[in-house]
Amino acid sequence: LTEKDMKGMRVTVTAGPTREALDPVRFLSNHSTGKMGYAIARSAKMRGAEVTLVSGPVALPPVDGVNMVSVTSACDMRQAVIDALPQSDFVIKAAAVGDYRPAQFQDDKIKKHDDDMSVALVRNPDILAEIGQKRRDDQVICGFSMETRDLVENSTKKLKSKNCDVIVANNLKVKGAGFAGDTNVVTLLYRDGTREPLELMGKGDVADILLDRLLALWKSKQS
Ligand code: C5P
Repeated sequence: LTEKDMKGMRVTVTAGPTREALDPVRFLSNHSTGKMGYAIARSAKMRGAEVTLVSGPVALPPVDGVNMVSVTSACDMRQAVIDALPQSDFVIKAAAVGDYRPAQFQDDKIKKHDDDMSVALVRNPDILAEIGQKRRDDQVICGFSMETRDLVENSTKKLKSKNCDVIVANNLKVKGAGFAGDTNVVTLLYRDGTREPLELMGKGDVADILLDRLLALWKSKQS
């Protein structure tokens, strides 16, 4: 029996990749499967929270009892997260958001020819950085960071530049970490400079520990 220690708390989770369309048949995306974000949504739901799961296109079944918001592009995801922000106690950004999108969407299929071709890309909005600006102090904001090198340095920079409370850092090159698998190896980074490395464990267990820590932080913020 799970303790309902998040009863009535409002948790917004993002999960999965985004797709940035080039034309009606092609898109840019990444290898995210959504498993980490879905595990967090499931765990928060079991603890009694009211969960909104903003999900990019994934092959996972929806999580029972959560408010599922399906999105495709980073711009769609931004709108859904900005809409959810004011009524969220927690925002947990596990999605792998595309950093760039094609500068132009071609209404008709791009035809091949004999020459090489290049595609102009423009920056997508950084959703986490934007909610870092718009947030209230009583809210807990958690970002994820996936790196292939200089994990702690890069992730510490994100913690500050994106104004979040916790970064969950994982190195794509560590065995048992990263996309697709059912396990993860993460280090939690906090604003006071402390770090908490977790062992290799299932994504459900990572989710449970992360929510323990975020809940403690949330309590410490309510005066
Ligand atoms: O800067 P980087 O993409 O490595 O940061 C990762 C974190 O920022 C993740 O929590 C991700 O969901 C979020 N992010 C975002 N919008 C973007 C890019 C990343 O919210 N355009």
